[in-house]
Amino acid sequence: MPRKSILNSTRRAITSVFDHLDYKRLESVYCYEGGDEFWRKKREPCRRLGTKVAEVLVRKLSHSGRSLYVGAGVTELPALLAEVIELQRQVAPYNLRRSEVTVLNRACRSLPVKFRAQDASLASGLFDHLWIVSVLNDPERFPHLAPLSYGNADPVTFDPHQFEQQRRVVRSIVDRVMPKLSLPGLVTTSTEEVIWIADWCHRKNIPYRVEREQFPTALVGDPVCFIKIGGLETNNRKPKGTKV
Ligand SMILES: C[S@@+](CC[C@H](N)C(=O)[O-])C[C@H]1O[C@@H](n2cnc3c(N)ncnc32)[C@H](O)[C@@H]1O
Repeated sequence: MPRKSILNSTRRAITSVFDHLDYKRLESVYCYEGGDEFWRKKREPCRRLGTKVAEVLVRKLSHSGRSLYVGAGVTELPALLAEVIELQRQVAPYNLRRSEVTVLNRACRSLPVKFRAQDASLASGLFDHLWIVSVLNDPERFPHLAPLSYGNADPVTFDPHQFEQQRRVVRSIVDRVMPKLSLPGLVTTSTEEVIWIADWCHRKNIPYRVEREQFPTALVGDPVCFIKIGGLETNNRKPKGTKV
């Protein structure tokens, strides 16, 4: 029977990595100003909530598989560490922010977790788990698309042309990373990004099931959930309110 909780040694490793992060350097990665206060407030919730997600995730994954993390930052540390320590899985975390990758790799240097400052679509081979959280709805990268994802678009200033361009970029990220998932597989994503994964499954005629349970996160604050992809007898089940 799978354990209910993660090991104390995993918790200690997570705490140790959080203790070794260079928060000063992370200030400008996460904030234009007020980075000092941001990390004072967010560091502990990030570790605590991330550990809860990690606890659920390790119960869903098998030993010694592979996970691709698209856009992995501090938020993803507990899940990454739990995967390698509890399940001896291989993890491939990608993040385009070079300075954050340097900080993360320094904090993880004694562990088999190596972040790459590259596009995740360059990852080779197949993975039975794909994590993509707060990437496809990132307001910094997709300022004309994110307001629609969050349901706060302004009809007066909304620019359909820019939106259309950004939607094309988002779809192309999904189209490049989703084929790396072996089926049946698991996707961890935010509730705002579920529609992009669902859209891909519909276009490829692959059944999927969005699990109901959602888990809060501390940094971006998008709740995360799990989607089972392929290997299901039922046909596509759209999440409530999804118009894809
Ligand atoms: C808003 S941040 C979210 C970080 C983290 N997932 C979290 O929830 O706190 C988006 C991250 O996705 C990364 N990203 C965007 N597109 C990517 C890609 N194609 N490959 C790897 N990383 C990507 C960015 O570099 C950035 O670090």
